[in-house]
Amino acid sequence: MTPSEAIARIAQLSKEINHHNQLYYQESRIEISDFEFDQLLEELVKLEREFPDLLLSDSPSQRVGGTLTKEFRTVEHSSRMLSLGNTYSQEELIAFDDRVAKGLGHPNYEYFCEMKFDGVAISLVYENGKLIRAVTRGDGTKGDDVTANVKTIRNIPLTVTGENIPAKFEVRGEIFLPLKEFLKINAEKEASGDQLLANPRNAASGTLKMQDSSVVAKRRLNCYFYQLLGDEIGVSKHDEAIHLIENWGFNVSPTYKKAKSIAEVLEYIEEWREKRYSLPLDTDGVVLKINDYDQREELGFTAKTPRWAIAYKYKAESAETELLSITYQVGRTGAITPVANLAPVQLAGTTVKRASLHNANEIERLDLHERDFVAVEKGGEIIPKITAVNPTRRKPGAPPIPYIENCPECGSALVRKEGEAKHYCPNAVSCPPQVLGRIEHFVSKRAMDIDSLGTERIRALIDQGFIRNYADIYELETKQHELLGLEMSQDQYEREVSGLLYISLEKALFALTETISFKQIQDFLLENTHLPLRDRLRAFQAQIRAWKKKVPSNVGMVDFLLQNLDSHPELMKVEDYVPVAIILEIFLGRRVAFENILEASKKHGTVHMILLELDLDLSSELIERIKKLKANTFQEGVISNMMEGIFASKEQPFEKVLFALGIRNIGENTAQLLAKHFGTIEKLQEASSEQLLEINGVGETLVHSLKEFFAQPENLEIISRLKFHGLKFEIEQKESTQLGTALAGKRILASGKLQNFKRDEIVDFVQAHGGQYISGVSKNLDFIIEGEEMGPSKKEKALKLGVPLISEEEFLKMVGK
Ligand code: IVH
Repeated sequence: MTPSEAIARIAQLSKEINHHNQLYYQESRIEISDFEFDQLLEELVKLEREFPDLLLSDSPSQRVGGTLTKEFRTVEHSSRMLSLGNTYSQEELIAFDDRVAKGLGHPNYEYFCEMKFDGVAISLVYENGKLIRAVTRGDGTKGDDVTANVKTIRNIPLTVTGENIPAKFEVRGEIFLPLKEFLKINAEKEASGDQLLANPRNAASGTLKMQDSSVVAKRRLNCYFYQLLGDEIGVSKHDEAIHLIENWGFNVSPTYKKAKSIAEVLEYIEEWREKRYSLPLDTDGVVLKINDYDQREELGFTAKTPRWAIAYKYKAESAETELLSITYQVGRTGAITPVANLAPVQLAGTTVKRASLHNANEIERLDLHERDFVAVEKGGEIIPKITAVNPTRRKPGAPPIPYIENCPECGSALVRKEGEAKHYCPNAVSCPPQVLGRIEHFVSKRAMDIDSLGTERIRALIDQGFIRNYADIYELETKQHELLGLEMSQDQYEREVSGLLYISLEKALFALTETISFKQIQDFLLENTHLPLRDRLRAFQAQIRAWKKKVPSNVGMVDFLLQNLDSHPELMKVEDYVPVAIILEIFLGRRVAFENILEASKKHGTVHMILLELDLDLSSELIERIKKLKANTFQEGVISNMMEGIFASKEQPFEKVLFALGIRNIGENTAQLLAKHFGTIEKLQEASSEQLLEINGVGETLVHSLKEFFAQPENLEIISRLKFHGLKFEIEQKESTQLGTALAGKRILASGKLQNFKRDEIVDFVQAHGGQYISGVSKNLDFIIEGEEMGPSKKEKALKLGVPLISEEEFLKMVGK
């Protein structure tokens, strides 16, 4: 390409990319797929690299970042970035309004109401229409120059064009991470076992201070602007300034409103009290500002805050309720989170029954005692929090709540790393929720995509010893006969300290009797909870007679139960449960010694596993009766469906397998990056820290996680077993075989949805037939394959340039298909 051709192409690409950015961010519309968009951007970046002189400071390629900043330069603000005074009540607002009226000496003023956005304040300076500097608030006087990072925020104009743009101006606003992005990032972090971001505000401020702007670019920050400054801005009121910057292309939240009086301000505050939760970001109040600039000047400032503006902060709603208990959740990474169970209470329109307590420090800070009355608050967060204890309602002698020392799931002694607030269960290898979490991640859609292995099934397989790690999944095939009849839930069981398995009385009676529904039994037991076990069984016999339901055999079976309970006085009594062995003795007593049944029911956690161990040949009638003891079970259909999914997953490409391994800090993108870069798991494993750090997007934490992962022999063993089962541990070489020459010399683009090809397939296909795939509409194209829903602007442009559009069918004919 000659330089003059490059100039033209760069201008063309820039224009198109800007157009699509504008659509995406300002109008929430799209005309082209992400893939097509990336192709345009890639072409631009490539051209600019080839012709570095042609790189403009406002090129949309700046949005992809790539600048590394070791230390941010400190820059002084043209005028101080002030903070606002806060108010929390109507009275305080009215007092503020009184001060304004007094200060001006008349009541002829207007307010401009805006939401108070919870993000990071930013100042952008433009000269001759170009963004030249972006600076954080810092201490108000000077802040950090974060220009390279801010340029990656796609809807911040790099250039402002139009009539009467002042030679120099400044806009101020709030950078934020949209809630949706925040949740997405945290979901990814959760999946890769990475530390979660605390809240969207910290996430935004952390992102803005990142050293690598290409990482910032991926975070999809956004910004709302609320202030225009400059000597020649040509407006005298805030609402005019806001409309001006809106027209210049700055993103302004559409929530603003002019108010003629403080009464109207109060209406605005009420209007947004609940509605604000539907906004794309956290807000914590309302800002009211005097609209007229001259009046602002008249009112002036106090030491730190303007007298012409103030913030009203919504008070978090609060309620008092009783703490019932604390349960401890074990996360996928072994992190322990205490959760308070509360007496249900109404709060901000929902019933609250639980609140997060975060960690041991929090329980200590609150000084929680058993059965305390606590204040719960709900801010913007989804999970409410306990903010205080009411000491006047503490029960006399109530003991303080100690923190647990052992994992509630596996009993391991908990550890707390220095400097960390959370306790961890160190038993990563066999603590059930940790195993479950890892396997759930492994089978998830974006990893191995085995959707026939849902949480309930995985849990059953883990609890009953079939899988301990993801390599075990591929060995289920040889255990299919054991899976048939396996129970999906163990809720009906209870284990006594000696390890003996008990089953709920309702399940036991359900299996022993016929023609009585489970519901009838449940209801009967519920009504008779006050009776001791023997009396309850006698009463049940009387009920069977009253129902007239198969009286002799049903009453007889309950008699058997009473006799067996009597003949084994050595077995512990557990309220509402009976030993499984005693029930099985009734069914199997003639075929197998009670000692054997007892032994097996100490070893196993379900009836299914006990029966597998006893290995008896049972009649179908007996199988049906015993089945009534069980929960839902795995049946043939379910098992073959699972096997199919497991088998199909072996086709997942290396990058998916790498992501599935759940190495800390390796999300989907990083897995892709590493897979492409190294090609095989061996090369990744052998890579030195230096080699890893050379890769754009790889930092110290990631290197540490990789080293840690490969240093564990269990992981290497699992990988070698997965390899044995045929999973892919190397990147597939794209076949560059030539399929034909029908497209030789042709320059081709496909647009819209195609029936026979995915996005990257069409590129390969064109190339394999000798053609050249071009990423954007230009007059150099020989033709465009028009797919479904081709973007109207593209189509119009193709028609204008006289590029022929052909259908997918015609295209296939061309290559003889
Ligand atoms: S105006 C002199 N408007 O709140 C007034 N600030 O406490 C300058 N903020 O540093 C600020 N939303 O980061 C203004 N609609 C809004 C705002 C807003 C959030 C932040 C801003 C400022 C802080 C002041």
